Amino acid sequence: MRLLINSRHPIITVETPEEARVEALLLDVAAELGVPLYEWSVTTGLGKAHGAPLYNTDSPEQGLANIALIQGDGIFLLKDFARYCDNDKICRRLRDLAEKFRTARRSIVLTAARVALPADLEGSAMPFQLGLPEAEDLLPGVRQVLAELSRDERIAIALDVPAMTQLAQNLVGLPEEEALRALRKSVLERGKADAGLLDAVLETKREALKTEGLIETVRRDASFMDVAGLAHLRDWIAKRKTALTPEGRRFGLVPPKGVLITGVQGCGKSLAARAVAGEWRFELARLDAGALYDKYVGESERRLRKALELAQKLAPLVLWVDEIEKAFASAGSSGDADAGLSQRLLATLLTWMQDRESGVFLAATSNNITVLPPEMLRKGRFDEIFFVDLPNREVRAALFALHLKKRGRDATGFDLAKLAGASEGFSGAEIEQVIVAGLYTAFNAKQQLTTEILVAEIQGTAPLSVTRAEEVQSIREWAKTRAVPAD
Ligand SMILES: Nc1ncnc2c1ncn2[C@@H]1O[C@H](COP(=O)(O)OP(=O)(O)OP(=O)(O)O)[C@@H](O)[C@H]1O
Ligand SMILES: [Mg+2]
Repeated sequence: MRLLINSRHPIITVETPEEARVEALLLDVAAELGVPLYEWSVTTGLGKAHGAPLYNTDSPEQGLANIALIQGDGIFLLKDFARYCDNDKICRRLRDLAEKFRTARRSIVLTAARVALPADLEGSAMPFQLGLPEAEDLLPGVRQVLAELSRDERIAIALDVPAMTQLAQNLVGLPEEEALRALRKSVLERGKADAGLLDAVLETKREALKTEGLIETVRRDASFMDVAGLAHLRDWIAKRKTALTPEGRRFGLVPPKGVLITGVQGCGKSLAARAVAGEWRFELARLDAGALYDKYVGESERRLRKALELAQKLAPLVLWVDEIEKAFASAGSSGDADAGLSQRLLATLLTWMQDRESGVFLAATSNNITVLPPEMLRKGRFDEIFFVDLPNREVRAALFALHLKKRGRDATGFDLAKLAGASEGFSGAEIEQVIVAGLYTAFNAKQQLTTEILVAEIQGTAPLSVTRAEEVQSIREWAKTRAVPAD
């Protein structure tokens, strides 16, 4: 911000709901540069920050007219002003003012949750990105909230300095006000501030992010303990874990950026992507690729950029993009109405993948990789493209064992070899479904689940690999030369 003002940018826009943070930032900058800060809002009019406003300056026009009269350097913070710029006269005035400003260290800063300027003004305006606060920015607020709650609500605070720091860390990803609101809510719900608050706050953050839309943090619910087969993928992930440790980095290991998992339906692509987070003990967040499209022009790219910024803040993080073709597929085709937008979104994502520092691992899945644009699949984007095929006999036995155990059954009481033999061509999801259906049958017949019941269910099921044999075959053919087997 100091740089922008020093380099004589007459109009600076800050798009953020966090007006208070902008104000604090500008006060700092103004003090550093030794120039006065003026503020204008429609309710108070124009005045020096923390000073008395000038009389009769609360209309936007009067505000601007008075700025023109003020001599010398200055920073002028105009709150919610962008909305008045649609008016031709005001727009013109602002442009004239900006023209004059170029010769002095004078800048107008426009803030609003959403800044959209008319095209004439856009050219003279420089956007400033106010990033989400870091843990250290949040810490003073966190302390203050806890002190207030202790004083006003008599809530016991049992947190030492490291715990307090971790608490601030757990709130990263939210704007400051929202973070502190989430903290207050969690403390009041628990009636105390102890070690358990750290997890409670993460939970509240998940809730808050959910309503935001695009990125949703998800509780880590799976690790490779829950996955049968996929030995190669599992091994690859385990090996990369060391690259993420300080020792690994010192040794010169390059931190992994991401994998793309493709393959036959129901064979554990989504499960494996989630398991990466469990394996590394990273936070897990889901990017909703389908929700990316917004009817307002430019809005989709803005939302994607914000989402990626958020992901970076939440690092170390596994960013899970399920069925990535939903967002980027039409980037490959031309002529489609969505193709242009899709291409720009893809460019945003690829640039981010290229530049970003480590800490965010992209775990993407795709059900139909053939529709993905080739840029995405080029070497060096994803570290590896894995192909998940139908489970072989051995893995099918493991799948039965795993899912029987999940439903509280002792797998040793079943003939796993027989089940595996009978379920040739079944996916993991279909095997799970056989067990679910078998449990219903057994319960209705008032007996325990047996191998025979399961075999009967298997024989009554037509797996996708049979009903859609051609499709499965073509996915396999495609993968042969372009992907690495996950198993
Ligand atoms: N290899 C596996 N190990 C353990 N469970 C599996 C495996 N494959 C599938 N399953 C079971 O099937 C369910 C569905 O699998 P998942 O959603 O991961 O498949 P997918 O490949 O993403 O399918 P889709 O193509 O439909 O998105 C999982 O939640 C899990 O219970
Ligand atoms: Mg899936």
